[in-house]
Amino acid sequence: MTGLAGRLVIVTAGPTVEPIDAVRFLSNRSSGRQGYALAAALRDLGARVTLVSGPVALDPPPGMKTVLVETALQMLAAVTAALPADVFIGVAAVADWRPAQTSAGKIKKDHGGLAVIELAENPDILATVAGLQDQRPRLVVGFAAETDDVLDNARAKRLRKGCDWMVANDVTDGVMGGEMNAVTVITQQGEFPIPQADKSVIAKALAQRIAELFLSASAY
Ligand code: CTP
Repeated sequence: MTGLAGRLVIVTAGPTVEPIDAVRFLSNRSSGRQGYALAAALRDLGARVTLVSGPVALDPPPGMKTVLVETALQMLAAVTAALPADVFIGVAAVADWRPAQTSAGKIKKDHGGLAVIELAENPDILATVAGLQDQRPRLVVGFAAETDDVLDNARAKRLRKGCDWMVANDVTDGVMGGEMNAVTVITQQGEFPIPQADKSVIAKALAQRIAELFLSASAY
């Protein structure tokens, strides 16, 4: 099936890494597996995929353009450079904050006890793309990583960020960094659970749902 033939899709994946100094950084446990699997599943349905990835231990998937970045600011710049697109999917675990100052050398400890790192908030890439006036992709999808009140939080996040679909992702039980996942796709039309499975199986189901949207002429 080639339901996404020729469609331009941007997928973000992996963590971002925010430098503190020459040798230290802030980041998170994202492995990039779900984003990479989704990019591959979309490619297999004929999409022309740009994968914007933070540092991960995975090889760039064949048959797509992969842009490697480190920080949230670099990820936003790479996403903006990859527009226009028909679909944007934010799977990346973008660091919410970055150190307000980055030291070019290694910060020395002063043996005085507490060290304080001031944090600046990173831009929200998903909300930025969803709010674009001229270049907003037709379908903007986010992944809500939640540990509590998963569906309620994801519903609120969909509205707050202005995206079309929010994929509610319960990240308790080792989902981040693990092989398995279970999600619920929250849309304006309804909520569609995809039961627990390998991340590649979840990816194929999601890609299929996106392809069906583009195939149904009535959707847009
Ligand atoms: N996201 C983003 N840019 C950010 C933070 C998040 O694009 N600076 C995107 C993620 O890629 C994901 C979605 O927003 O698609 C939800 O991410 P999540 O971490 O669940 O949400 P947060 O905005 O971090 O909200 P909170 O920390 O309150 O859970």
